[in-house]
Amino acid sequence: MTAPSMLALLDPVLRQDPYPTYRQWRETAPISGGDGQPFIVTRQQDCSNVLRDPRFGHAEADQTGPLNSTPPQQRSFLGMNPPDHTRLRGLVSKAFTRKVVERLAPMIEQTTAELIEAALAEGRSGGAVNLMDAIARPLPVAVISELFDVPVEDRELIVAWSHDMARGLDPDFLIPEGVRERQFKAREEFRQYMLRLADKRRDNPGEDLLSGLVQVQDAGDVLSEAELLTTCILLLIAGHETTVNLIGNGTLALLRNPEQLARLRAEPALADRAVEEFLRYDPPVQFTARIALQDTTVGSLDAPAGSAAILLFGAANRDPEVCADPDRLDIGREPSRHLAFGHGPHFCLGAPLARLEGRIMFQALARLDVLEPVGDPTYNDNIILRGMRELPVRIA
Ligand code: HEM
Repeated sequence: MTAPSMLALLDPVLRQDPYPTYRQWRETAPISGGDGQPFIVTRQQDCSNVLRDPRFGHAEADQTGPLNSTPPQQRSFLGMNPPDHTRLRGLVSKAFTRKVVERLAPMIEQTTAELIEAALAEGRSGGAVNLMDAIARPLPVAVISELFDVPVEDRELIVAWSHDMARGLDPDFLIPEGVRERQFKAREEFRQYMLRLADKRRDNPGEDLLSGLVQVQDAGDVLSEAELLTTCILLLIAGHETTVNLIGNGTLALLRNPEQLARLRAEPALADRAVEEFLRYDPPVQFTARIALQDTTVGSLDAPAGSAAILLFGAANRDPEVCADPDRLDIGREPSRHLAFGHGPHFCLGAPLARLEGRIMFQALARLDVLEPVGDPTYNDNIILRGMRELPVRIA
């Protein structure tokens, strides 16, 4: 058996199917680490406890975190602690409302239909289609462009920047030098672009999220320009690859469990539950990290100030304490608690949007006459985000 460790999490062999290993860890060493090594936490209750506990958080502005060395002035509120996190999240939530999300539904329906139509044409002309490139990847970035109401002629720019920034959620030490340079360049160009777009919205506001963000006010408080820009970058990064991988991982789960695909075809109203089940079963974000801000404990283990804790969502979502028969995919199950969107003060702000995209996409995929795997998928190198590079399918 492989002992729980960061090194084991980095092993590309684990990526094919990490769940039997997670299960062993959960059963034999539910919390491991300490003595200078990060704690690895695998049970759902323990993960939730750490995520809710104010004694755990992110490295303060003058420190670098266990996984990320983003300079403090470029850090988004995802990497902040109260009171800064509370203030910024509060302001952004006032603009990122249910109405802003619901307004996107017709566009998501239409884009999904167009992507599937194009993939069907590709399938007719040449056999296997890579579902990741043809369908999963283009939708979320189109949605975020719409969220900011980026002019149609500039959307290819957003796609390119987003692609270069895509590994932004991975630990720095995993990112090769050339990739990191492209990431910085893309971030800078995106910042400059959003700055100009924000100026236009200030003069001429619309119904989109960017107009909301430039106007938002809370008891006289507003977003500074730097805060506005880091928030836009956060929304692009946090909302992009994650949703791509929900579509990819969920489709793979259906392909490997054809009776569940048949069930979704027969009962499209199950799509909401199916999305929760995909998020539980094969979460796009496999883990997050916190550090102890003071001397404390993780479960029964001592955690001196500064020690890191890895909260392994991939393991916690299959904890039999919260989900019966957790290794079985069941799109009709009563949604059980899962941590795919995190927990506590940093719970995903985009969850309603991700759920909406997922529902629309899986309903559309279930309407296809043929959706079958052709050969094996290949995985991306990222370790926090779990997703495929290629998912070859036959569709008709
Ligand atoms: C935070 C997952 C889609 C925006 C998070 C966190 C997780 C997560 C696990 C918490 C990280 C932590 O506590 O360290 C996902 C998944 C998605 C998804 C699995 C898709 C299936 C989106 C979308 C958006 C978004 C579409 C917006 C366009 C955010 C933001 C935060 C966040 C702004 C930071 C919240 C905070 O720090 O208070 N997401 N996300 N996410 N997500 Fe998502």
